[in-house]
Amino acid sequence: MQKKYYITTPIYYPSDKLHIGHSYCSVAADTMARYKKLRGYDVYFLTGTDEHGQKIQKKAAEAGVTPQQYVDNIVAGIKSLWQLMDVKYDKFIRTTDDYHVRSVQKIFKQLYDQGDIYKSEYEGWYCTPCESFWTESQLKDGCCPDCGREVSKTKEESYFFRLSKYQDRLIEHIQNNPEFLQPVSRQNEMLNNFLKAGLDDLCVSRTSVSWGIPVTFDEKHTVYVWIDALSNYITALGYGSEEDALYQKYWPADLHLVGKEIVRFHAIIWPAILMALGLPLPKQVFGHGWLVIGGEKMSKSRGNVVDPVFLCNRYGVDAIRYYLMREMPFGSDGNFTNEALLARINSDLANDLGNLLSRTVAMIEKYFDGVIPQMGEVTELDRELIDLARTVYADYTENMDNLRFSVALSDVWRLVSRCNKYIDQNEPWVLAKEEGGRIRLGSVLYNLAECLRIISVLISPVMTKSCRVIAEALGAAPELLTFESAGCYGLLQSGGRVKKQEALFPRIDIKKELAELEGLGGAAEAEKKAEKTQKNPEKTPKNSEKNEQKIEEITIDDFARVQLRVGKVLKCEKVEGSDKLLKSTVLCDRERTIVSGIAKWYTPQEMVGRQVVVVTNLRPVKLRGVLSEGMILCAEDETGALALVSPEKVINAGAEVR
Ligand code: ME8
Ligand code: MG
Repeated sequence: MQKKYYITTPIYYPSDKLHIGHSYCSVAADTMARYKKLRGYDVYFLTGTDEHGQKIQKKAAEAGVTPQQYVDNIVAGIKSLWQLMDVKYDKFIRTTDDYHVRSVQKIFKQLYDQGDIYKSEYEGWYCTPCESFWTESQLKDGCCPDCGREVSKTKEESYFFRLSKYQDRLIEHIQNNPEFLQPVSRQNEMLNNFLKAGLDDLCVSRTSVSWGIPVTFDEKHTVYVWIDALSNYITALGYGSEEDALYQKYWPADLHLVGKEIVRFHAIIWPAILMALGLPLPKQVFGHGWLVIGGEKMSKSRGNVVDPVFLCNRYGVDAIRYYLMREMPFGSDGNFTNEALLARINSDLANDLGNLLSRTVAMIEKYFDGVIPQMGEVTELDRELIDLARTVYADYTENMDNLRFSVALSDVWRLVSRCNKYIDQNEPWVLAKEEGGRIRLGSVLYNLAECLRIISVLISPVMTKSCRVIAEALGAAPELLTFESAGCYGLLQSGGRVKKQEALFPRIDIKKELAELEGLGGAAEAEKKAEKTQKNPEKTPKNSEKNEQKIEEITIDDFARVQLRVGKVLKCEKVEGSDKLLKSTVLCDRERTIVSGIAKWYTPQEMVGRQVVVVTNLRPVKLRGVLSEGMILCAEDETGALALVSPEKVINAGAEVR
């Protein structure tokens, strides 16, 4: 029987135009879906949009349209982006779809009836003019983050999901099923940062947000975020409806592909909801890294986005998909730069692959009138090439199975490079002139064509157009383009005809192109902006974002070089002309003036009297004209929440931290 494979992307917020960072997740999912199809799986690939909530309600109001009109418009754009990028999903779910709404209502009711959801109160801050409810950490200087006016402490009636009840089962599941959460680093992150610290019950309804799914048994309430959004993975299959054949067939999901900042929701909250519903858990949640720009996560609010439509139109979809899957190890962050993109296009695509195809076809045309010659006796050079084709096939398979897209592609390029070298070693143009060289020449060209056939199959999950161009150039029949046939050497028929194609990838004049990009204000412009903000110490990249790439080990002596002391904040004020910086006078080994970018999270009043931890041997720097003599340590999580680090009990200022 055919094995099934159910793969999902997150459902995207339609609050803005999508950027290349969003495309990253979808292209990866699409690549995996295509790979599994190639392997003969019965694949179901789900994507969609997450359309409810206060933000959308507001944006729609600002635009003077209904929330539904607002999302309809954006969703149309998202769908056409996936079409452009060859992201070929089987279903696109919208959380405003009526079947989803009905099913979420059922789920909510069931959880309530069985006691997994209960009514309580949610404490927060209310801005009366905005009619908005804010949590403590959302406030800006203690005021409404939208209008800056005063807020008042309020209790809102809310329903809560008994997340805490599932804590032990979740820990057990993650520990006993290493495949469940990948890469491995995310397991420790979840266990240490959230699960072992203890889970709070989760607020799952709101009375202050009207753009949401109504709670059927308590109409003041709408379902709040996660039960609505996460349920999409089963409601899309018809769960909770009469027609649940897809659910029966495809659930549990084989892979939820998500960005690292939402791993928590997929590896903790979602499984807990499923446990409560008595449903099987997804087989794997994979948290991929971010596409960053100048060290910062690409995001609309940071204004450093790169437009995928622009890139695809300019360089071709295959080049962009290749770049996304090749440039950074899946799971790690990777920096987007125009230079790296153009370098990949020129060297890997135009020079290596494009040239290999055009040279091979041109030589078969020139020396054999376009007819694929026969493979003659196998020489040592041939043997090496054939063996490599086998090894690459095996390595590629293993790497693709484990979502190591970048490594899998570099495997294929080992073969591409070897073919180019094989041309140079065999010098077909010399063979053509040699007496008796014709048989050998035919053999060399056959091997090149045959390797190209294999290459075209292996790149097909990523490069959906180029693989077809190569196959057409070789006149390879469909049965020679299956995954299995790529594992067999020598299947290409001699006697078939090659057909010259347009260059796969035109070479780019990089200098000229970079200058032009700058002029266009496209991708390059955004990058420059990001560079600037990076140099600006008020906006240094967040730790969680920049350390993702590689963790460098240090010795105890390295650590000892950092002098840390407990300090007491004596005075604190805002730095003039900056809304991010606070200037504190801190007593540690002596009185020090320290500037920190924490004004978003702490008011000067809140700082005074606190004990903090200070790096005292940091080279002083001038920030906004103030000499800062050290650094106050803070912790920051992936949601951007920030907390000062303090000694667990009061200790004399100046105490060493070791
Ligand atoms: O989080 N690099 O939606 P979203 C890589 N609606 N991936 C990125 C990225 C970047 N620079 N920016 C965004 C949501 N993404 C929720 C999900 S699921 C039940 C609900 C990825 O539109 C991000 O990591 O903010 C996430 O996986 C996806 O885009 C959607 O993000
Ligand atoms: Mg997000």
